[in-house]
Amino acid sequence: MLKTVNVVGARPNFMKIAPIHRRMLDSGRCDPVLIHTGQHYDGRMSDSFFQDLGLPKPDRYLGVGSGSHAEQTAAVMIGIEKALMELCPDWVIVVGDVNSTLAAALVAAKMHIPIAHVEAGLRSGDRRMPEEINRILTDSLADLLFVTEQSGLDHLTKEGHDGSGIHLVGNVMIDSLVEQLEAIENDPVLESLGLEADSYALVTLHRPSNVDHPEIFSGIIDALEALQQRIDLVFPLHPRTEKTAARFGLLDRLKNMPSMHLTPPLGYLPFIRLLKNARLMLTDSGGVQEETTFFGVPCLTCRENTERPVTIELGTNRLVSPSTRAIFDAAQPFLDGGKPSFQVPPLWDGKAAQRIVEIMLETAG
Ligand code: UD1
Ligand code: UDP
Repeated sequence: MLKTVNVVGARPNFMKIAPIHRRMLDSGRCDPVLIHTGQHYDGRMSDSFFQDLGLPKPDRYLGVGSGSHAEQTAAVMIGIEKALMELCPDWVIVVGDVNSTLAAALVAAKMHIPIAHVEAGLRSGDRRMPEEINRILTDSLADLLFVTEQSGLDHLTKEGHDGSGIHLVGNVMIDSLVEQLEAIENDPVLESLGLEADSYALVTLHRPSNVDHPEIFSGIIDALEALQQRIDLVFPLHPRTEKTAARFGLLDRLKNMPSMHLTPPLGYLPFIRLLKNARLMLTDSGGVQEETTFFGVPCLTCRENTERPVTIELGTNRLVSPSTRAIFDAAQPFLDGGKPSFQVPPLWDGKAAQRIVEIMLETAG
């Protein structure tokens, strides 16, 4: 039996680990233990995803919560070290680029436990993003590097990684979409919000570079104000975004826009149903750039760079500066119903987790 510790901590981790954990259990040859660090802890940022994705309750919950980067990373390290000492796994699996990802990898490396990093090799080239630091360091510690797109292979090769541990396997995030498609279609969120397919734009924002600076955030809100005069907007508020909007005195402006549907963070099924049926997406999320690419939904990514260039090369994604004019102008063609052509990137076929588990079993011998 291959004994693994599979680590999750924040919202984007749950839909990445779910298909891997399931394939491992189905194989009958793996003994996966699920550890939740508690980086995200609100029901709407955490528990609801376990339900929507059919993930079993975590075997261990570390309860680290929020804090500065150092506080959060250190708290995950302390909790994970204790757990790994007790569990003695053959491998630790980490996904994505959040603080919990790096913290778990650092601990495992020093305990000489091999690490598999899922979503390896992505690079924005912007070291002011905390995630970029997490990506570079996690990849440098990992023994198996599972890559979603060609740019990941290119970066790892350029950085001198040993090619034998690198595998282009596709995108586990898309596995979750494919697995949950029927439940997504059946979710009643459109009806509850009184919206019809293709009649609204969906918005998510949570990057510190956009929402932690009052002048940038208020410029984006000016763009939303103008856009909602043309089309209904649905904006599920990330807790960071809700807090900074309140602190900067912007929350009431959002609440008072007549065609704005402000919601709490949404569960996976309602969120993806809204995304799939949106006329336009405006976001700064990593995962949303991939999900819109899969469904061919026009996506404006409110950032100067992306670590997911395939979503621009093949998909429907486009970068847009976080300024009022740039956002408003970039949205125009889609408000009139324009649809970009797109291709789904190679291996984004719902079978990435299966490939990962096969490679891990083969590697373990
Ligand atoms: C984290 C990740 C980011 C990812 C995002 C996904 C890092 C460095 N950042 O950013 O890469 O894109 O998650 O959503 O790991 N909060 C709550 N309830 C919660 C969780 C957070 O209220 O359940 C609030 C707290 O005030 C907290 C703030 O949100 O201080 C930010 O949370 P944190 O986990 O530090 O970073 P995110 O912005 O969520
Ligand atoms: N998501 C969700 N509800 C929301 C917003 C996002 O279910 O209200 C999902 C969506 O599938 C997205 C994933 O959470 O791809 C990760 O989101 P987030 O933007 O928080 O993280 P990132 O990908 O930027 O690290």
